[in-house]
Formats: sequence, C-alpha cells, structure tokens
Amino acid sequence: MDRETAEPRVREMPGQKAREWADYHHQFAAPTTYVYDFVWDLTEDAEGPFCTDVDGNVLLDFTSHVAAAPLGYNNPKIKDKLDEFPLPDPTKIAGQDFYASGGWPPEDPEFPGPTQLMERLVDVTSHYDMDMVFLSNSGAEAIENAIKISYSRGGHRAFNFDGAFHGRTLGALSLNRSKVAHRKGYPEIPGIVSVPYCSCAGECNCGWKTNGPGGNVIADKLDPDQGVIDPEEVSYIILEPVQGEGGYRVPNDEFIRDIGEIQDTYDITIIADEIQSGMGRTGEMWAVDHFDLQPDVITSAKALRVGATISRSDVFPEEKGRLSSTWGAGDVLSSLQGVLTIDAIHEHDLLSNAEERGRQARELIADASPESLVDVRGRGLMLAVEFDTKDRREAVVDAALERGLLTLGCGYKTLRLLPPLDVTEREIDLGVNLLLDAIEGVA
Ligand SMILES: Cc1ncc(COP(=O)(O)O)c(C=O)c1O
Repeated sequence: MDRETAEPRVREMPGQKAREWADYHHQFAAPTTYVYDFVWDLTEDAEGPFCTDVDGNVLLDFTSHVAAAPLGYNNPKIKDKLDEFPLPDPTKIAGQDFYASGGWPPEDPEFPGPTQLMERLVDVTSHYDMDMVFLSNSGAEAIENAIKISYSRGGHRAFNFDGAFHGRTLGALSLNRSKVAHRKGYPEIPGIVSVPYCSCAGECNCGWKTNGPGGNVIADKLDPDQGVIDPEEVSYIILEPVQGEGGYRVPNDEFIRDIGEIQDTYDITIIADEIQSGMGRTGEMWAVDHFDLQPDVITSAKALRVGATISRSDVFPEEKGRLSSTWGAGDVLSSLQGVLTIDAIHEHDLLSNAEERGRQARELIADASPESLVDVRGRGLMLAVEFDTKDRREAVVDAALERGLLTLGCGYKTLRLLPPLDVTEREIDLGVNLLLDAIEGVA
C-alpha cells in the first residue's frame, strides 16, 4: 500500500466476513465494548492510518486503536527496526525477577528493552524531577500503583473529578466518574471525594469556583477554619490533564493553577493520568506540559504498549515486595515498541506534527461549521467534535464508517478523532472531508 496515494474504499461495511468473524469471536469472548464489526486483516496491506479489513475494504483509521497504535499500522518509523529484531522465546520474561539484555552496552544496546524504556521515560519526565519508573501491563495497573505509592506517603482520602476514567480494576474503578456501568455494584475504595472538572471556556459556571473561603471546591473543603476535610488525611488528587472517556474535555487554565496552589499549600500528591493523553498525543509529550502544574506522579500506557507509573524516587516505597508483577518489566517486544515510539516522536518531530495537523483538522471542521455541531475542541491530535444529541453522534460514527472512516464516541454526545501522530496534511483533508460528508448525510 502506498500511503501517499491510498484512499478509503468501501464495498460494504461491515461486510459478510467481518460479521461472521465477529459472531465466531463472541462465542468465546466475554461481552465487552466492541465498537463495531471492523475486523482488521493482519495479512493484508496496511500503512499509517490505512488498513484493510477481512472483506477487502480499505479504511482510514482515525482511532489509532484508542491511541494504543500511536503511529498506526506497519509504520516504517517503528516497523523497520522491529523487522530486524530476532524474536526470542520467551518474548516475555518474569521481568521484575530477572533481567534481559538486547546487546551491549546498557546505555545503547542494539535492541532497547524494558531497561531502556524506563531510561527514556525518566528522560521525558526529568522536567518534573522524576527519576524512577515502575512498569506494569496496563493502564489500570499503572493507576493502581500510582495510588499505592501515593497512599504510602500518608493520608487515606483523595479527590477525583466528575467525568473521570482511570480503568476497570477495583482500585482504579473507584476513581471513575464517567459511566455508571464502570462502578455499579462493585466495592470501592473509601474516602474518594468527587468535584467538578472545570473545562469552562470563559468564566467558571460548572461549580468549581465558589464564593467560599478557598475560592474553589477543594480549597473550601480543606480550609483550616471553615473546611470539612483535614488536609493531613488527603493522600492525592488524580486528574486527566485532558479528559478522555469523559468527552475530550480540555481543562480551564485557572482550574489547573488552582490545583497547583492546593498542592503547594497542603503538600498533596498530584497524579496526572496520561494514559490516553500522553506520549505526544496533544502536541506535547504529556498533556500536563501545556499547563502550569508540576505533577508528582505520571501514569502512562496505551501508546507506550506497557503500563508505567513514573515519579520521584522519594515517592516510591523502598521495602521490597511492596510493588511487583511477573510481567511488569518483562515484555521485551512491547518495551522495544515503546522505546521506538518515544524515539520516533523525537526523531521525526511528531510533537510539532501533532500540533499542526490537529490545528488543521479543527480549523477545517470549524470553518465548515455544520449546524448539528456544538463544539470542536482538543489539543494536538486528541480531537473531538460534540453534537447536539447522542443519537446524532452515533449516526455520524456509523455514517463515517460507511464512508471508510473509523472514529470513536466519548462522553455523552461527542465523537473523538485520534489520527496517527505522523498523520499528513493530505490524510487530515481526506478524513475531515469524509467526516463532514457523514455529518451532512445524517442531517
Ligand atoms: C485516562 C485513562 N486512564 C486509564 C485507562 C485504563 O487503561 P487500560 O485500559 O490499559 O487498563 C484508560 C483507558 O482507556 C484511560 O483512557
């Protein structure tokens, strides 16, 4: 497939084979959140955002597998090096009990692995004085370990935000506030206090700002004279620097500054959940880099291919066995992909690309200003369009699919676009035109 000339080509979506494949799959798979019957054919042509499904449809994928395939399919920026990798057996080792080397010296081995992934992560978080990493398997595990190390510093309460999503393990789900299905009927960690996530464009009207003694909800609750929570009892505040599942909500600058002030005043640990927004997606390595806040802990996963809890060494507990996992630092292949992704971001200046192409997409959509659109927003290539109704959003996702464009919903009535980080001007034009055509078709 030639990425420079490829175009989506759809006969029927989903086709007969995709439907059969999905039916067969569901004979064995627990019910979960499959978005549509799109079955990627691993044996067929794919490059960057273009892929072929089992029925021979060529699709333009602006989901990047929910940011978990940050450079799309078979991207030479990663694939060329992967092709040289002599796939060992085991590709996964018990990585927190044993080491593996991909050559010598450790500072620059032929094939970087878990050690080098941690070194790269420390490098891209050094502006927050972070110098230590705990690797795990998933985003939820990165969160579990982030909250564990925060509790180790003292306190048993925490603040989270309306609209939040942090994963589906019992600890992580206790922090979710986006959909009832995530928490309904499950036991939860006690002591979590939820407050508004302020994404107000102008003056705050979401309830974050108050006329109380602290001027905002958290500061009021912690106020030494009139507050209701002892700051000593608060372990952490966890936030997504751009909210993901909750609707790609970009926070208000002042709201983030308020959180920084609370952190300074009461020495409360700030966890930035960058599992969806990190690794260059917003045009900075971390979405929090756009704001005036110094997180104490960053969680990463998805685009990284493994989970990572990153912080300062003084935040991690020293006692052996407090944190561990068999596959934690042991996925040699995924770690290599993680390193290659970070290296590709630097080498090909993908942060600037995300910034420019994101702006292009937002401007094209805003200029067309279809009537049913309520908002176009995002940072870099973490893009969202919000519709007047949920039904409309769903109809547009389907109509885009029929035209060969893969998109995803988020929030209540928002559609999100996550093109690969090296998406080109032509590909953005192509994708946005398909989206606008789908919106018009639905209207
Ligand atoms: C912001 C955020 N945090 C945590 C998670 C959980 O990650 P995982 O699905 O890898 O457990 C996700 C996944 O969508 C996420 O978007």
